[in-house]
Amino acid sequence: MLVILKRDNEEANEHAAQLIAGAIKKKPSLTLGLATGNTMLGLYRHLVRLHQSGPLDFSGVVTFNLDEYLGLPASHPQSYHHFMHEHFFRHVNVLERNIHIPDGSIRGDYDAYCASYEQAIRAAGGIDLQLLGIGRNGHIGFNEPTSSLASRMRLKVLSRETLDDNSKFFGPGEEGPRCAITTITMGIGTILEARKILLLATGASKAAAIAKSIEGPITCAVSASALQLHPDVTFVLDEPAAAQLAERDYYHRVLQMTALLTPDRL
Ligand code: GLP
Repeated sequence: MLVILKRDNEEANEHAAQLIAGAIKKKPSLTLGLATGNTMLGLYRHLVRLHQSGPLDFSGVVTFNLDEYLGLPASHPQSYHHFMHEHFFRHVNVLERNIHIPDGSIRGDYDAYCASYEQAIRAAGGIDLQLLGIGRNGHIGFNEPTSSLASRMRLKVLSRETLDDNSKFFGPGEEGPRCAITTITMGIGTILEARKILLLATGASKAAAIAKSIEGPITCAVSASALQLHPDVTFVLDEPAAAQLAERDYYHRVLQMTALLTPDRL
């Protein structure tokens, strides 16, 4: 596990974008797992800038999003389909056929749909790099507390805390996640199969979840603590998000050694 500490939100976003850009340059046909949420906005802005100025070429990249609200069609302004197109896909050259986002409008055999999404990930060779944010309660994707650490893609009901957090995206009177309280999400077991994982967290509201995930016990009460089981996970944090970590000095020293020994990890 590598913990990269950055001064502020902007530096953290830029660093995470550079790590993704580096992975794409190394492997132009990268299979990239993508995440949504406020935290990702700055990161996607940087990736778009790298595409426009670089140019960073996404034409060989295959993407799989983590999750979607069940019951929201792709056209709904609060769907993660809309979020991804608005903030990322329409600005870069990922081919439409290479974009995969769970379909929130499916009905009927949900298990079969989830199995087919996982099968598509396998058919693409598995996820090379999975990008993650984190919820205040430590959720990754929509794996709320008490999710099995071996869980697969499935429907998942949102907790009260996540409903409150995510309702900020919905305008007054707008049909919100209160009506779409179930989601379709990659499981923790699915996420852990990615070859590399990059978790980006910024802001003081994430400090407790980050400390528990990195330094606390592995527990289904904090889904992101399962990342301790993964052999290649990098956390990119700004100072407020890192504030409750007990071992900050140690992470700084590890970073100095990493810069000397394996600079391409940074
Ligand atoms: C949602 C998403 C998560 C994301 C989390 C944090 O619940 N499903 O993937 O990490 O929100 O969002 P934010 O960055 O807005 O705090």
